[in-house]
Amino acid sequence: MQTFDFFSKHISLITPIPIYVAVFVLLICQGFSRQRLFRRRTQSTQTPADIKSGVSNDLYDRDQRLGSLITPDPSFSWRDSPQEVPREIKPGKYFLTMNLRKLDFNDYIIFDKQFLTEYRERQAIISKVGSEKIFVAEPNGGALDLCEETLNVTVDFLVTRYPSMFRRTERGVLCVDAGEEYDLVTRPWVRHPLEITCLLSGDDCILMRCCDDGVLRVAAVGLVYSLDIDWKSFIGKDLASIHIDARVPFYESTIQKSVDRYFLKLHPEKPVTRANWLTQVGPELRNDKFPDEYLRRVSTLPGNSITAETIIHDLYFRVERQTMRKLPSMHGVVFKFHLYATNIWDLEQEESVPRQFAAHIRGLPESVLRQKHCLECVHGILKVMDEMAERQEKKHGNRHQPASRSYI
Ligand SMILES: *[C@@H]1O[C@H](CO)[C@@H](O)[C@H](O)[C@H]1NC(C)=O
Repeated sequence: MQTFDFFSKHISLITPIPIYVAVFVLLICQGFSRQRLFRRRTQSTQTPADIKSGVSNDLYDRDQRLGSLITPDPSFSWRDSPQEVPREIKPGKYFLTMNLRKLDFNDYIIFDKQFLTEYRERQAIISKVGSEKIFVAEPNGGALDLCEETLNVTVDFLVTRYPSMFRRTERGVLCVDAGEEYDLVTRPWVRHPLEITCLLSGDDCILMRCCDDGVLRVAAVGLVYSLDIDWKSFIGKDLASIHIDARVPFYESTIQKSVDRYFLKLHPEKPVTRANWLTQVGPELRNDKFPDEYLRRVSTLPGNSITAETIIHDLYFRVERQTMRKLPSMHGVVFKFHLYATNIWDLEQEESVPRQFAAHIRGLPESVLRQKHCLECVHGILKVMDEMAERQEKKHGNRHQPASRSYI
């Protein structure tokens, strides 16, 4: 099969996908199909035709309900909001778990002082690479409805929660700080609805459609901070095949059942969140330099001086803040993620993180380190972290025992 060949041939390129998609997506589906059984009363007996005839009432109720979940924060200032990178670092023996947490609806989309810089950077990437390579959907506009609904819920959220940043206009929505208005009315779309979604929210996203056979399949992607590859073959993939392609370690044995219960809660009004990390070389978020693969690539170049030791100086942790929710009116799921890159040396500014992170890494099996792209340079990473931890503990030693001690 062509798609399978594509994935196996490019497995080193593709390996970032599984991290934020594969395991997760599969679990989504499990939860999703259960949820279909226990579907909310309002939907349980409705056929698409019923839904159509009752649409205005449903939409009204829904908007009221969703609107009341959002507390406007009119004085919010992204400029005064420091970046808070979620650290998913559990010291001790490794278990593949999803670590899903309920997310306060108000935190469905969050902003920090990087907002405008990243907004501009993402615009520049889109115009350089081309919108059609970043926003990819089912052919023949099949997923356009899903993209439009995603944009709708995003704009609803943004103008309600952050009125100082986003305002509705006659024909669309204004991004106040950029002074740019996006047209939501003209058809065909002036810009792809996912492009507007990804620019305004600062997130990348994957939309999945629950098909008539009860299987979730990728319907559209908007991947600004990602690899420069052809995402077309990713569209239409179901969870099982994404999984096989992704070769997620330990998946089958552990994950499948243990997180089902979390996914039963998957619901338009109850987004869930988790975080994940990978390593990369350099700070760019649209990046194809992953340490293990990069080392292999440069090792054949004449005069190469990059080694598993020296690569540490340019090593960054690439963190995904993932959130997921069901779309209110259609059978779709939005899986979106915000990306952060932190230089390894900057972890020293985060209290007790180097010690805990080192303990976490020591608990990871080789297969997981490989998936995080840092198997080759993991000794260097641990050395740097231990040094940082010692400096932190020496500095604070007189005042109190660091909490992280218990993990040593
Ligand atoms: C999106 O919102 C517009 C304006 O409220 C509405 O007319 C349209 O039907 C919505 N689209 C979807 C797919 O929900």
